Amino acid sequence: MAASLLANIEKGKTIGVVAEVDGKVVGNSEVTRGTGSQSHVGFLGVGVAREYRDLGIGTRMLKTLTEESRRIGLRLLVLDVYATNARARHVYKKLGFREAGTMPNMACTKNGYVSVIRMFLELD
Ligand SMILES: CC(C)(COP(=O)(O)OP(=O)(O)OC[C@H]1O[C@@H](n2cnc3c(N)ncnc32)[C@H](O)[C@@H]1OP(=O)(O)O)[C@@H](O)C(=O)NCCC(=O)NCCS
Repeated sequence: MAASLLANIEKGKTIGVVAEVDGKVVGNSEVTRGTGSQSHVGFLGVGVAREYRDLGIGTRMLKTLTEESRRIGLRLLVLDVYATNARARHVYKKLGFREAGTMPNMACTKNGYVSVIRMFLELD
């Protein structure tokens, strides 16, 4: 885990949910609180180890992370996802995230330019 992430967790700026299988961390997700006028907004990231994908782990972690985000008073979750990432988009949509818009060719990857979709979930 990156040192900056640990520092943010200690300062209470970031909350994280990990998934463990047989004592091994196979998934990680976090929400980092925005600052100033965006301190009610959480910026979300998630990843599951390749061999543990499509087992429901990402969905479980994100459900818990959403509940925790609500509990600490966040009002809006925001994330960016590659347009080509069909699985992630499916999971986010299933959990109620909506698409705000698409930034064309925003990411330069080894496979060429990829559009980036910003998604959001309002928490009540
Ligand atoms: C995206 C990610 C976090 C999802 O976690 P996961 O544990 O694999 O997801 P789950 O098993 O909970 O759910 C997968 C769902 O996607 C569906 N799916 C799989 N491949 C798909 C595809 N190509 N297109 C659409 N849906 C797909 C599965 O059928 C399943 O749907 P269901 O829950 O309706 O049955 C994980 O796959 C991952 O880490 N991917 C690489 C990193 C990444 O993309 N991170 C997010 C960056 S924004």
